[in-house]
Amino acid sequence: MAPATPFLPTATDEKTLRPSFIRDEDERPKVAYNQFSDDIPVISLAGIDEEEEGEGGEKRKEICRKIVAACEDWGIFQVVDHGVDAELISEMTRLSKEFFALPPEEKLRFDMSGGKKGGFIVSSHLQGEAVQDWREIVTFFSYPIRARDYSRWPDKPEGWKSTVEWYSEKLMNLACKLLGVLSEAMGLDKEALTQACVDMDQKVVVNFYPKCPQPDLTLGLKRHTDPGTITLLFQDQVGGLQATRDGGKTWITVQPVAGALVVNLGDHGHYLSNGRFKNADHQAVVNSNYERLSIATFQNPAPEAIVYPLAIREGEKPVLDEPITFAEMYRGKMSKDLELAKLKKMAK
Ligand code: SIN
Ligand code: FE2
Repeated sequence: MAPATPFLPTATDEKTLRPSFIRDEDERPKVAYNQFSDDIPVISLAGIDEEEEGEGGEKRKEICRKIVAACEDWGIFQVVDHGVDAELISEMTRLSKEFFALPPEEKLRFDMSGGKKGGFIVSSHLQGEAVQDWREIVTFFSYPIRARDYSRWPDKPEGWKSTVEWYSEKLMNLACKLLGVLSEAMGLDKEALTQACVDMDQKVVVNFYPKCPQPDLTLGLKRHTDPGTITLLFQDQVGGLQATRDGGKTWITVQPVAGALVVNLGDHGHYLSNGRFKNADHQAVVNSNYERLSIATFQNPAPEAIVYPLAIREGEKPVLDEPITFAEMYRGKMSKDLELAKLKKMAK
């Protein structure tokens, strides 16, 4: 028997959600996609490259103070004047939308179900979880350069590969700059956090959230913290990214700011700072009026990188019992989350 064609949210006009997308009540959105909050700081990076001495030094220090405060408070903030060209971002957006508008059979040429590294999928946050997220993604590894498996990168639309390479490089530079600020705030050399990643990985996930017939019953992306060091997210002007800092009791919808990138710390960044910097707990909600696009660039340590606090302040205990590798940390996180999801299902 031929394998069944996967269901694609972009290729349906069904008026009700399929059961596989329906979340338990406690996981459903509490706040609408467009009920924006300006609680998450928006920080201009203009002046971050200035010399540390003299007048420019003051500007730089002020920017660093704001970044550090945001990481201690939320683990998530937005940056503007970040040096990633507006034309590059709009080209990435245009090409991504063209990809998702391709017919299902074109996208499914890059189907990554079955464990392939990179490509296209209707994705759940956890591979193997019964409930699906209302999103389609295309994902690929962009760093280290030897990890680029071009056979898993879409060959349409034209111009995708070169634009993505340019985008990846710009975002890698920006991520290292931000990690430099956090390293210094921890009393370490600027390179300390980057070096702790060994040969830093970069994975790009382009998320496309189609219009959803019953957005109150589902999520575009289930609540999670990112496993890696730092994530840079471009989102369009629709809205849908939400953050919480009280374990999911209250949520805020991050106000989209034109041209901004959202920055959030992941578990690795959190552990290296011995818990001083938060690993932002976040999710994405969908809506019935607009489709939404976001591009997440994950900066992760190499699998063999050691996860353990780099700076433990006086009076603090280490947040980890012992050093582990990032690969072990990642496996542990995924199997724990999957276990919880299964237990929840059994308890129903
Ligand atoms: C993510 O958490 O990776 C994406 C969130 C979003 O699409 O806003
Ligand atoms: Fe995320």
